[in-house]
Amino acid sequence: MVISANFKTNKTREETKEYLNTLEQNLHPSTSSEIIIFPPTTALQHHIGRVEIGVQNSYPVERGAFTGEIGLEQLEEFGIRTILIGHSERREILKESQDEVAKKFQFFAEKNFKIIYCIGEPLEIRKEGREKLFHYLENQFRDIPLEYSNYTIAYEPIWAIGTGITPTMEEIEEVLKWIKEKTDRKVIYGGSVKVANIEEILRLPSCDGVLVGSASLEVTDFIKMINISEDISKS
Ligand code: 13P
Repeated sequence: MVISANFKTNKTREETKEYLNTLEQNLHPSTSSEIIIFPPTTALQHHIGRVEIGVQNSYPVERGAFTGEIGLEQLEEFGIRTILIGHSERREILKESQDEVAKKFQFFAEKNFKIIYCIGEPLEIRKEGREKLFHYLENQFRDIPLEYSNYTIAYEPIWAIGTGITPTMEEIEEVLKWIKEKTDRKVIYGGSVKVANIEEILRLPSCDGVLVGSASLEVTDFIKMINISEDISKS
């Protein structure tokens, strides 16, 4: 299972270091889950351990004149080989278009990065019914080379992000299953995942893991979530 944490614009470099140390110290040596942390860019660091560090965003270029952005060269300095692409906060707030998102996917796929590719619909679309919903999600696959070997799809309905609202298990399963019909890569869920609901989400037949936002910020909670995932993998 993939148990990943997106810190978004939270935590300093020092806080991230402390978090990683606590996490590594508390992981069971036989932990089989793939654990990925996406800290803010200033907290990127070389890390040796069970936990993998990924970047929340990067510009699809090796280096150049792109003020405020970081490229491949800056990621290589910290040995970063994992990237989050297409998060709804970048699509909605930072106005990243599908063309830009697809360009990033293609660039980092060419560089053999592990990509966590996010898709998800706003509430207005969800309210318009299934046909509109799947049409909207289909558009987020435009120009994405699904034959690439090293990616995971994260389904994150925008209305469930940071709101404490989770879709019903049937709603999540329906979309995860639909994604699995397109690709045999892992498919994970994100949106108000927490200690109290992670078990039922991970037990969904099409669910291969989670992408956790706010509930991952407390390291003890994140450890609890990893332990729950371990129990499920074993049972
Ligand atoms: P929350 O867990 O805070 O809803 O955020 C989910 C998310 O956006 C992870 O990428």
